[in-house]
Amino acid sequence: MSAILSVRNVSMQFGALMANKDVSFDVEPGTVVGLIGPNGAGKTTLFNCVAGFYKPSAGSILFHGEDITGMPSYRVARKGLARTFQVVRPLKEMTVLENIMVGAYMSHGDTKRALAFAEECMRTCFLEEWRDKPSGDMTIGNKKRLEIARALATGPKMLLLDEAVAGLTSTEVKEMVDVIKRLKATGLTILMVEHIMEAIMPIADKIVVLAHGEKIAEGIPGDVVRNNEVITAYLGKKYAEGMAKGHGSRS
Ligand SMILES: Nc1ncnc2c1ncn2[C@@H]1O[C@H](COP(=O)(O)OP(=O)(O)OP(=O)(O)O)[C@@H](O)[C@H]1O
Ligand SMILES: [Mg+2]
Repeated sequence: MSAILSVRNVSMQFGALMANKDVSFDVEPGTVVGLIGPNGAGKTTLFNCVAGFYKPSAGSILFHGEDITGMPSYRVARKGLARTFQVVRPLKEMTVLENIMVGAYMSHGDTKRALAFAEECMRTCFLEEWRDKPSGDMTIGNKKRLEIARALATGPKMLLLDEAVAGLTSTEVKEMVDVIKRLKATGLTILMVEHIMEAIMPIADKIVVLAHGEKIAEGIPGDVVRNNEVITAYLGKKYAEGMAKGHGSRS
């Protein structure tokens, strides 16, 4: 199967700091890939390179085989690659549906169709009860799902989720995992940055681990969490012991 996204030897330098060093991995269509690693490992930087917010210092990014390296973000978005942000920022004076409509107008020129699609994305993300309420009044868990609904409304082929479950209660984490499972079932490809292993383990087909800007491991979740280098750099012994007993939590 040919990859929908190929990250090839990507490096990103900020002055003397190498935030990404020669990172390569592929994302196969219809799969969920988790990108994990300690704070400052370069996960968001890599997202910014993929989504066209940064031009990598070296390396290339292919989307559906097309070289999109350095392409501006609005063009990357039009090609079907949508992202959410680590810090959510809905238009808080606007209602939830209006927020989603902003995305829907990108995929549907006609207002009636845009509205129908926005409503569909709203339901997929379990936001019906918020339809006509201002997004500024929402809890963080609902705002995170709104962020996904807005990205979804642009009609992407692939979604980049940056810490979609950070700061959520355990009930909200479960709701988010359900949303991501729904998205996967529609055939959407997802690359997700996440610290909460409980959210990644049940949904990821593959996990890529970054530390100090470099890829230190890649593989199926069960193998990656048993990798000694990953345990040392990120998960910690406590997590590994928890895994051995059948439960794994970093917190
Ligand atoms: N625009 C920038 N200018 C300079 N340095 C930056 C910039 N963006 C990120 N960095 C640095 O690059 C490194 C990687 O940061 P990045 O935000 O990609 O990490 P992360 O893996 O997403 O971390 P976290 O888990 O805390 O979100 C950090 O040392 C950060 O300070
Ligand atoms: Mg980050």
